[in-house]
Amino acid sequence: MEKIDWKNLGFNYIKTPYRYLAEYKDGEWSKGTLTEDNVLHIHEGSTALHYGQQCFEGLKAYRCEDDSINLFRPYENAKRLNRSAERLRMPLVPEEMFVEAVKEVVKANEGFVPPHDSGATLYIRPLLIGVGPNIGVSPAPEYVFTVFCMPVGPYFKGGLTATNFIVSEFDRAAPMGTGAVKVGGNYAASLQPGKEAQERNYSDCVYLDPATHTKIEEVGSANFFGITADNQFVTPVSPSILPSITKYSLLYLAEKRLGMTAVEGDVYLDQLDQFTEAGACGTAAVISPIGGLETGNGFHVFYSETEVGPVTTRLYNELVGIQFGDVEAPEGWIE
Ligand code: COI
Repeated sequence: MEKIDWKNLGFNYIKTPYRYLAEYKDGEWSKGTLTEDNVLHIHEGSTALHYGQQCFEGLKAYRCEDDSINLFRPYENAKRLNRSAERLRMPLVPEEMFVEAVKEVVKANEGFVPPHDSGATLYIRPLLIGVGPNIGVSPAPEYVFTVFCMPVGPYFKGGLTATNFIVSEFDRAAPMGTGAVKVGGNYAASLQPGKEAQERNYSDCVYLDPATHTKIEEVGSANFFGITADNQFVTPVSPSILPSITKYSLLYLAEKRLGMTAVEGDVYLDQLDQFTEAGACGTAAVISPIGGLETGNGFHVFYSETEVGPVTTRLYNELVGIQFGDVEAPEGWIE
């Protein structure tokens, strides 16, 4: 195995030895197997290619101090994959099959789970796609469920470091569209605004509610949260936001561990002054503090463009401590 510089990993593809593969044909899943082949061989008529009939998940494995490996709330990922599958008329992946597949992949690639103190993790990407001969807009005749993984570092530069974001003029998803499920089309829609934002030195875009463009919905690659001076942890509510497992974990931790009031509500762009801190949260992003936000109507600094706020830091330590086995986890959060 090539020597990996664990402490300097970015969020990039690295081939690991094994991935899991199961196929769905004639109404049933094949017995899943591990394969060393990292190339998918699929039919040219596959609906995943033409009509975006595909969904995916993202979760991580964490190396604990005693060398054991933690998975963080994998059943929540299994449930979310199935909500996405249902929305796109794909077969469900039984939750046990999903979690077993993830465990098999982690075990088979154990040497790629970064050391405890490196800050890096093993990122796991389950993928469900429609395949087989098809050309009309209708669900695929067959499906592939695959799970692969790779060691990763921070998604946004510096991890727990304040960076700047920009409000996008584009919409990521429509109110009754597919924003709340984890399908590739939502991310495809964010590619152009995301690139333009990066070219202007912003980490990513913040998207507004598509109906009125007055409220913050989410960061394309993560969810948004704000902290108020009166001790509230606030996240936007909307039918077109991807329900981040990290966000729901933070809502719980803010209330139960930090004694805050956890609120899912409207976050109006013209009321950002109420927030003393803000950030992006997600599996890949973990907690990424938002230093400043270019709103199109001025540049709004939350806590600081360079420093991380105290509540964000406490939430980060609680969440990451649980994930790496250093802090006691709520019941059922670790597998
Ligand atoms: C994740 O956080 O796992 C995601 O899938 C977001 C993606 C932009 C990397």
